[in-house]
Amino acid sequence: MTSAPDLGFTTLRWAEGKLFLLDQTKLPHVQEEMEFERVAPLVDAIQRLCVRGAPALGCAGAYGMVLGVARAKDRAQWASDLKLSATTLSEARPTAVNLVVGVQHIQGLGERLLASQGDASFDVAAATAKLLEHAIAFHKADAASCLEIAENTLPLLFDGARVLTHCNAGALASGGLGTALAPLHLGHSRGMKFQVYADETRPLRQGARLTAWELARHGVPVSVLPDSAAASLLADGGVDFVMVGSDRIAANGDVANKIGTFPLAVIAARFGVPVLVLAPATTIDPHCRGGADIPIEQRSADEIFGADGVRDGVEAYNPAFDVTPKEFVQHIVTEHGVFQAHGEGHEAWRVYVASLTKA
Ligand code: MRU
Repeated sequence: MTSAPDLGFTTLRWAEGKLFLLDQTKLPHVQEEMEFERVAPLVDAIQRLCVRGAPALGCAGAYGMVLGVARAKDRAQWASDLKLSATTLSEARPTAVNLVVGVQHIQGLGERLLASQGDASFDVAAATAKLLEHAIAFHKADAASCLEIAENTLPLLFDGARVLTHCNAGALASGGLGTALAPLHLGHSRGMKFQVYADETRPLRQGARLTAWELARHGVPVSVLPDSAAASLLADGGVDFVMVGSDRIAANGDVANKIGTFPLAVIAARFGVPVLVLAPATTIDPHCRGGADIPIEQRSADEIFGADGVRDGVEAYNPAFDVTPKEFVQHIVTEHGVFQAHGEGHEAWRVYVASLTKA
């Protein structure tokens, strides 16, 4: 079995009855963990992007559910804490469906435990321990999916490939090696050479702050460019693949990802550069028929204006994500294989999505 290279940091972990998160608002300058024993501060940390990236949010949501019930004194309180935690965690950020998947995974188990044990037999501590066991398994499954995504993508790449990426879809964004960055980390650890171009990713600069940090400390050559320079780089023939992650993939194959992914995909199509979207199956939402159904998070004007922007009488338009129509995506790679949601691959994609609905 493939093992992941050690990147020297841990995005999230459970220890001593607490959830520890690497505070991504402080990177790249300060590498510091935050610890959580309650749901409310975790929700705040999710909204401030201390932990971010769809698969990592799924893991944080699963662990958050454990924190949510950990103080309950009896079955009735455990049941109401379970429900309340599920609601507050799920609503922390709207676009990344993995958050809801992680929360519901644990909530479903909790509800089954409640249904199978009455007041007399319900052991609060044992039930909480069961939820933790499943949250840890959920986290491990995400790490395994990252590795499978990497293995499934490497045959599409070649030694010396030049890859343009947007936002951060790496180990910082997941419970393992990442999605879009996972094949780069894994290939690099096997001696393959890559040149990565990381879009700066305005306004919160996940590319410049996080992707560049994570790749550079692993020794993968990386150059940061302003988002507006991507078109010139593509036009100059400087890119072989655009590789990104996703926050939610609709049933028809439309892809929501960090704002700026859509124009990147349009420009890549103009210059014949394939766009690969790498994501675990937990990012696919069979209940969203198309991109128009995906809720897009609107964030604060402060992120646009910063400290020095003109504020009086000026509004901001600050969607955190956009939707790339499926036609602009060459392949969607998951832990289950390589798919194409349009053209010849359409039927296989439809069957795959239907299989996820049944699972
Ligand atoms: O707002 P963020 O930083 O949570 O946005 C993250 C992204 O858009 C990532 O590309 C996406 O979640 C995929 S992470 C594997």
